[in-house]
Amino acid sequence: MVLLKSLKRGVLIVFEGIDGSGKSTQAKLLFKRLEKAGFDALFSREPTDGEWGQKLRGLIRNGRDKISPEEELEWFLRDRQEHVEKVICPGLKKKKIVILDRYYFSTIAYQGALGLDLSEIERRNAEFAPPPDILFLIEISPHLGIRRIKETRGQGVDFFERESYLLKVKEIFNSLDKPFLYRLQGDETVQRLERQTQEILCRYLHERDLIEKRE
Ligand code: TYD
Repeated sequence: MVLLKSLKRGVLIVFEGIDGSGKSTQAKLLFKRLEKAGFDALFSREPTDGEWGQKLRGLIRNGRDKISPEEELEWFLRDRQEHVEKVICPGLKKKKIVILDRYYFSTIAYQGALGLDLSEIERRNAEFAPPPDILFLIEISPHLGIRRIKETRGQGVDFFERESYLLKVKEIFNSLDKPFLYRLQGDETVQRLERQTQEILCRYLHERDLIEKRE
């Protein structure tokens, strides 16, 4: 039987990166590792599977020409508001380790790359979305990211994945400067990246003395 490890408070961990960076793989690996180690962890992603998330996935599949960048931003904000309210905050309140595959840094980068003001996007998110404890940004060139998508999915890329657009998205990700940001190299092996995320989280939990001691 696995001995459950409790935390003194919830911890929010976010994985970000351009398409094909490997962030979803790493987010899921960390989640599984934590569960195995006896932590109460929760995995979730954005866009979500909720009403607005499904609308967004339709947009991503079919092209975004019918709505304006401003409208697109509103859709992502609505999806996130629901996510924060129904999943993220309740999870943190229950002292879980909440792992997210994309969060508001994607909105800053992807909707910012459409020409919207970066600090305004951040300000709108800060009104309701708690900042993460750890943000893993997996860096990779759009060229390699797109190659991976084509290889793994065996199909073309959608509108959100065009190389010229992803170059702008990547530039914005590069410009992020946060005390909780850890940059990882996406061309490393899956195993090496996995080890790095585990080590960083482990250090974080110990340095802040977040693991509940048992009698
Ligand atoms: P992605 O994580 O790639 O989903 P999947 O793995 O199911 O393909 O996300 C889909 C797209 O949504 C991706 O191209 C980035 C985009 N996106 C934004 O433009 N803004 C946002 O705020 C979020 C969360 C995602």
